[in-house]
Amino acid sequence: MANLLDALRRHSTVVADTGDIDAVARWRPQDATTNPSLLLAAAQDARYRPLVEDALSRGQGAAEPTLEWLFVLFGREILKHVQGRVSTEVDARLSFDTEGTMAKARRFIELYAEAGVPRERVLVKVSTTWEGIRAAERLEREGIHCNMTLLFSFAQAVACAQAGVTLISPFVGRIYDWHKAARKVDDIPVAEDPGVASVARIYRYYKKFGYATQVMGASFRNTGQILALAGCDLLTIAPDLLGKLAAAQGELERRLSPEEAREHALERISLDEKAYRWLHNEDAMAVDKLADGIRRFDADARKLEQFVLSLVKDRRAAA
Ligand code: E4P
Repeated sequence: MANLLDALRRHSTVVADTGDIDAVARWRPQDATTNPSLLLAAAQDARYRPLVEDALSRGQGAAEPTLEWLFVLFGREILKHVQGRVSTEVDARLSFDTEGTMAKARRFIELYAEAGVPRERVLVKVSTTWEGIRAAERLEREGIHCNMTLLFSFAQAVACAQAGVTLISPFVGRIYDWHKAARKVDDIPVAEDPGVASVARIYRYYKKFGYATQVMGASFRNTGQILALAGCDLLTIAPDLLGKLAAAQGELERRLSPEEAREHALERISLDEKAYRWLHNEDAMAVDKLADGIRRFDADARKLEQFVLSLVKDRRAAA
């Protein structure tokens, strides 16, 4: 009998959801994903101070370029331990700015190139707003591949498929969190978990209608949620849950597959901007969690900014 992590690898591509480079090296996933909250934690870790110092030097005392370099240098280091791609997230403040998102994505790709990393190994993470989807659609045409984050509603998933983005990250845990709070319960069993159901629905829709966009389940709160999505194209998993899966033995049946998806009676829909906004707005959870997610990623990016600025000050004082 295999451990559950190895068993899962037979059905889905396993991705590490972390800025902790040692954890990536330990678990050897195919890809890795970062976000501002994960990089805030990693940048404050003494083990990674040399990367922060390097970013400070390259950023020459200015907050924005220092942060950009910080994200890229962590990404480059992570790529030493994975064969595939790293995801680097665009500033959440650009969530409603198509041109701004495109400029930031191009900037990341330029910096990665300067650091010796080709664009094929990078996914630029973009907020799944209408403006973000339009930016991603155009970036994909330029050969810049996107990972659509903060995806909570079916409308967001449909619009991303229509836009032909490389990959979407539908969240599980934050949907579960919202429903737990709304129902005032401590847990929701996996079989009834609305986060798991959301990813399964999106996966089936994509496979049934032959969309090439990859589906990567994200934001997990327990191993049950991960195992219930075995077969999803990719699953991005935090190191603590990778550890729990590796420590458990068991058989694992594939839960999602293109064949199973085709058996479902689904209707193909097409969304223009008005229809997208209406359908997304019908989902109160998704509206709340998208807005909250943008605020949270922004808050952590601002904390990271304050952190690097304090280091710039220390450097100047010491000079
Ligand atoms: C990954 O791409 C997401 O940013 C991440 O899974 C979010 O996880 P969280 O809901 O635990 O913050």
